[in-house]
Amino acid sequence: MLAIDDVHAYYGDSHVLHGVSLQIEPGKVTSLLGRNGAGKTTTLLTVMGFLTPRKGRVSLMGQDISGMAPHRISRRGVGLVPQERGIFPSLSVEENLLVAARGAHSGNGSGWQLDRIYKVFPRLAERKGNMGFQLSGGEQQLLSISRALMLNPTYLLMDEPSEGLAPLIVHEIVEVVKEVRAQGMGVLLIEQNLSVALDLGDVHYVLSKGHVCFRGDSETLAHDEAVLSTHLSV
Ligand SMILES: Nc1ncnc2c1ncn2[C@@H]1O[C@H](COP(=O)(O)OP(=O)(O)OP(=O)(O)O)[C@@H](O)[C@H]1O
Ligand SMILES: [Mg+2]
Repeated sequence: MLAIDDVHAYYGDSHVLHGVSLQIEPGKVTSLLGRNGAGKTTTLLTVMGFLTPRKGRVSLMGQDISGMAPHRISRRGVGLVPQERGIFPSLSVEENLLVAARGAHSGNGSGWQLDRIYKVFPRLAERKGNMGFQLSGGEQQLLSISRALMLNPTYLLMDEPSEGLAPLIVHEIVEVVKEVRAQGMGVLLIEQNLSVALDLGDVHYVLSKGHVCFRGDSETLAHDEAVLSTHLSV
């Protein structure tokens, strides 16, 4: 399990996370919701080691990884799909994938290689010689997800993967999340699109001003009018 326990995180003097605890379990999608500025990305950056919690801890399979360097956390099997996508604009699609694979985690061998990526996302196969900057927003997002999968991670952290994308691409993303969950990967999904989150999330955490104000399944969340209207823009 990948867990954060009573984490307090700061940017300089600005106290952003106030004792956040959550668990990301293998074979499940853990959804993290909340309004703009609630602390979702900050939570993910703390899990990934970009921020060191001032209090509390991040643990991976029981080991304390709080503040460990991000590349080391990544090598232990935690893949990241960042909010800004993080692809190399001046490398081709295929080069982007091969560069990502160099950091691969030797652990569980979940079997993501070029041919599987191209099978799941045929539009990336068609564009494998194109440069990153020549891709549409949707193609960039598929490439960003594929780069994370090339690491063959045990856990996958995704920051608003469907943001601004056409329904057809969102559907492809939903399907690949279901596929990696079925193979046992643990997914942390930050989503603004509530219907995507309700469809995919096995458990939901709602953040408000750096506090967890709700934890529950889709059924419970979908009926919690107070949480939906106060803490989500529904
Ligand atoms: N680099 C930074 N320096 C200082 N404050 C920051 C920094 N990044 C974020 N913040 C602040 O921390 C708080 C939480 O931001 P965060 O990016 O985690 O929110 P979020 O829930 O991911 O929002 P969004 O839905 O807009 O992506 C906000 O008040 C934000 O202004
Ligand atoms: Mg964010």
